[in-house]
Amino acid sequence: MDGPDEYHVPVLPDEVVHFLREGPEAGEIMDGTVGGGGHAARILQDIPGSRVLAVDRDPDALDQARLTLSPWAGRVRFLQARFDVAAKGAGIMGPSLRGALLDLGVSSRQIDNDTRGFSFRSGDAPLDMRMEGVATGGRTAAEILNEEGEAELTRIFREFGEERRAARLAREVVKRRRTEPFERARQLLDALTVVHRRSPEAGEKARVFQALRIAVNRELEALDQALPALRDALLPGGVMVVISYHSLEDRMVKRAFREWSRHCVCPPEIPICVCRGEPLGELLTRSVVRPSEAEVTGNPRSRSARLRAWRRGV
Ligand SMILES: C[S@@+](CC[C@H](N)C(=O)[O-])C[C@H]1O[C@@H](n2cnc3c(N)ncnc32)[C@H](O)[C@@H]1O
Repeated sequence: MDGPDEYHVPVLPDEVVHFLREGPEAGEIMDGTVGGGGHAARILQDIPGSRVLAVDRDPDALDQARLTLSPWAGRVRFLQARFDVAAKGAGIMGPSLRGALLDLGVSSRQIDNDTRGFSFRSGDAPLDMRMEGVATGGRTAAEILNEEGEAELTRIFREFGEERRAARLAREVVKRRRTEPFERARQLLDALTVVHRRSPEAGEKARVFQALRIAVNRELEALDQALPALRDALLPGGVMVVISYHSLEDRMVKRAFREWSRHCVCPPEIPICVCRGEPLGELLTRSVVRPSEAEVTGNPRSRSARLRAWRRGV
């Protein structure tokens, strides 16, 4: 097994610790995307007495996190689950969290492992992309390409991948699968080459693979469910930190945090405020936090990261 740094270099680690320190001292911090345990290790090391609920849907990630976090074994609980499910569980007996962290997307380890199919770099890689691994019953990327209608494929490529030629790519996929069902990354890259009439650039390939990954793992639904569940699981003064790498995810987080920080949540057609007029909490990041140039140079995969933080009212 790799050391934590080879597994995944944590993004914006100082900022994550800085905001989580602002929470109360009681309760646990839920790391809903523990991955290789990089952020969780920093939390346990830099926030004395903190306890972490380490969650990941990928069993391989949890194995690595158990190893990375072994020096703090008495202060960590591990749970293999989707973070939206874990968030609902954390709040079942009432608020219990002093902090919550979501560092969305996939880890370097998942991308670099050719058998998982997250990356376009190996043409032979199976089009799988399920974060839970092969043991899960969920649909693979290949199954989505082979089974979805043209309109839904267009939506996936356009909305999740911001692919300008989404409709043409969907048409090409539907045409090709009639004679040869999709199984390997190379087949999708070939379809993309035809649509672009040239060899696609790395960024264009990455966006199409990302779009499929988001669809396979229903990533936006998980975030949409997790945000209010985590908010309700926070203790008074508890802090939520979310790092996103996709504009749709960042928009969801920005809207939710703004909405929860407004003084009045009455619909505009009501002339007099009938809500309690108390915001649910406050934004800790007036504008989004991005990695410094030095961080991006040292860890290019941090390039698109956007961090936002919010604190529940006391
Ligand atoms: C960017 S990595 C996190 C890396 C981690 N912060 C670290 O420092 O090592 C994202 C992780 O979140 C997990 N993940 C993504 N979506 C998830 C979800 N809905 N529920 C639980 N885990 C999820 C992935 O399996 C992956 O391990």
